[in-house]
Amino acid sequence: MLTGKRIVLGVSGGIAAYKAVEVCRRLVDAGAHVVPVMTRGAEHFLGRTTLSALASEPVQTELWDAAEPIPHTRLGQTADLILVAPATARVLSAYATGLSTDLLTNTLLATRAPVVVCPAMHTEMWEHPAVVDNIATLRRRGVHLVDPESGRLAGGDVGAGRLAAPERIVAAVERVLGPADLAGARVVVSAGGTREPIDAVRVIANRSSGKQGIAIARAAADRGAEVTLVSTVPTPGLTGARPEIRVVDVETAADLEAAMSAHSRSADVVVMAAAVADFRPKAVADRKLKKADGPPEIVLEPTPDILAGLGATKRAGQVLVGFAAETDDLVANAERKLRAKHLDLIVANDVGAPGVGFQHDTNAVTLLTPGADPRTIGLTGKDDIAHAVLDAVVEIRSAARTELAHPTT
Ligand code: PMT
Repeated sequence: MLTGKRIVLGVSGGIAAYKAVEVCRRLVDAGAHVVPVMTRGAEHFLGRTTLSALASEPVQTELWDAAEPIPHTRLGQTADLILVAPATARVLSAYATGLSTDLLTNTLLATRAPVVVCPAMHTEMWEHPAVVDNIATLRRRGVHLVDPESGRLAGGDVGAGRLAAPERIVAAVERVLGPADLAGARVVVSAGGTREPIDAVRVIANRSSGKQGIAIARAAADRGAEVTLVSTVPTPGLTGARPEIRVVDVETAADLEAAMSAHSRSADVVVMAAAVADFRPKAVADRKLKKADGPPEIVLEPTPDILAGLGATKRAGQVLVGFAAETDDLVANAERKLRAKHLDLIVANDVGAPGVGFQHDTNAVTLLTPGADPRTIGLTGKDDIAHAVLDAVVEIRSAARTELAHPTT
């Protein structure tokens, strides 16, 4: 997939710079022509000779001393992709604000090629509002982010901010340069937890942040799909910024049911990642209930099972994906939901396990399809889970096309 692709590998100054060597080796092994660019900071952590020896060309660092008179534009103009691994807080900030201070940041501005950025830094920096804003800005502009992992950091600290593993980075590059395997597909994704009103100010809610559903919407758009994201949570990084993602805001299970049934009618793929309340108050007070009146007696009624409804009315060729949030008997419970709701795929997550499910940036899932062995994906970023789910969707679609062309019975 990477044969003949020209990849500028930008390495900035963090302890994770040594991992760029492995990333470089894997890219070259996969057939890419790797053009290495190091910042001055990176040279404190990694010898030029090491990277030059493994890349397809010698390392470049300076705007002014190259044989090429204008390397800052040539590198970006001739690249098929620019990869920055690791990307420090400084490089992210420069890129987000359009500041060109060295060869790498110039190259990032002087290109129309896709850019994959792999941040790595200490947890305090990664969680700083300035860095969070810069990441959101870059995502909004269509930059592909490979989120860092949690683990051991420089100086023995442990936390979020460790550079993603080289195989994740190379897989992200392959995805960006690979065929748009959902081109033209209409994908509807739900995200977030529903909120069911009790009175004018209070709701019954759940812990869903919408991160997993939003990651699926973004990944589907990256793979060429036309996406409708039905969301209970705000999506500032998407609304208006990614024209291929239409966002429909909802709040309650009833809103979500109406939106899903309207938008899924013409969809090729429907993914229910939202956490829907199973019960809602039967009567909703139109004013704020007074504390002085004592605890209210709230009578609950079941909400509609939206996914089961979509399964019952699914049209031929549509791929329907559900999630199962379980705390015990993960596979048995998910299999039951797969069958009962007539799904093509269910994504089971053990939401009682550390780092899995609600609110985390990570997830671990088991993918179940009718008649096939379960496939487990260990703890990784929600973007990776999203792509694994979509890989399975693509497989289901292509098996259905083959069956249509060459029926087995
Ligand atoms: O949003 P995050 O913080 O990133 O967390 C992600 C997640 C944990 C919410 C997500 O990975 C997940 O598991 N979503 C499904 C949660 C859920 O409601 O699971 P469930 O096992 O209760 O429901 C099974 C399926 O039926 C789900 O696809 C659900 O969307 C659907 N359902 C459930 C109830 C209902 N009334 N209508 C439905 O359609």
